[in-house]
Amino acid sequence: MLQQSAAQITQAIYERRSIRHFLDAAVDRKLIMEAIKAASWAPSGLNNQPWRFALVWDQQLKEKLSGLTRYSAVLRGAAVLILVFLDQESSYDRVKDCQAIGASIQNMLLTLHSQGLGGVWIGEILKNKERVSQLLELPERLELMAVVAVGHPAHRNQTSHRRPLEELIIAEK
Ligand SMILES: Cc1cc2nc3c(=O)[nH]c(=O)nc-3n(C[C@H](O)[C@H](O)[C@H](O)COP(=O)(O)O)c2cc1C
Repeated sequence: MLQQSAAQITQAIYERRSIRHFLDAAVDRKLIMEAIKAASWAPSGLNNQPWRFALVWDQQLKEKLSGLTRYSAVLRGAAVLILVFLDQESSYDRVKDCQAIGASIQNMLLTLHSQGLGGVWIGEILKNKERVSQLLELPERLELMAVVAVGHPAHRNQTSHRRPLEELIIAEK
C-alpha cells in the first residue's frame, strides 16, 4: 500500500505541468478545500505553519487582480484563485518560512493535478503584493507569497524540461 502510493506520488510529480489555459467550467469547492488541506500538511520549521490562504471566486475581483500582473489572461480564465500568504505573526525565520510555504504550494499543485484539475503558480504578481492585499482588505501582517490560478485544464499539451542530474549533482564522495 505504502509502495503503491509512493509510486502514485512520483507519477504525479513527473506528470504535473503548469496549467495556464482553463475551460469555462466551475470547480467543486470540496476539491479546493482538499488541495488547501494538503497544502497545510507540508512541513514547516518548528511546525509553525506560517501559510494562510485566501480564495477568490468572484469574477469582478479576479478581473481587478488580473490588472496587477502581466499574466492577466491566466487569472481571468481561472475558475478560482488561491492566494497564499506568509503570516508575519507566525513567522520565526523568513527563509525557513518561505521554504515551508513553497512546500505547501507544491503539495497544493500535486493535489490539484491528482484531482484532474490544473494550476499554475503565479509569482510575477508579487511586484504588486501591497495592492493585492489592499484589494482584499487584508491586514499588513499577511504578505503575499504567490497566487495559484486553478481550473479545469483546457488541454494538457504543454511540455517542460529539466536539466540532467549530472548538471545538478555537484558532489558525490
Ligand atoms: C516561484 C515561482 C514563480 C512562478 N511564477 C510564474 C508566473 O508568474 N507566471 C507563470 O506563468 N508561471 C510561473 N511559474 C511557473 C513556472 O514557470 C513553471 O513551474 C516552470 O516553467 C516549469 O514548468 P512546469 O511547472 O510545467 O514543470 C512560477 C513558478 C515558481 C516556482
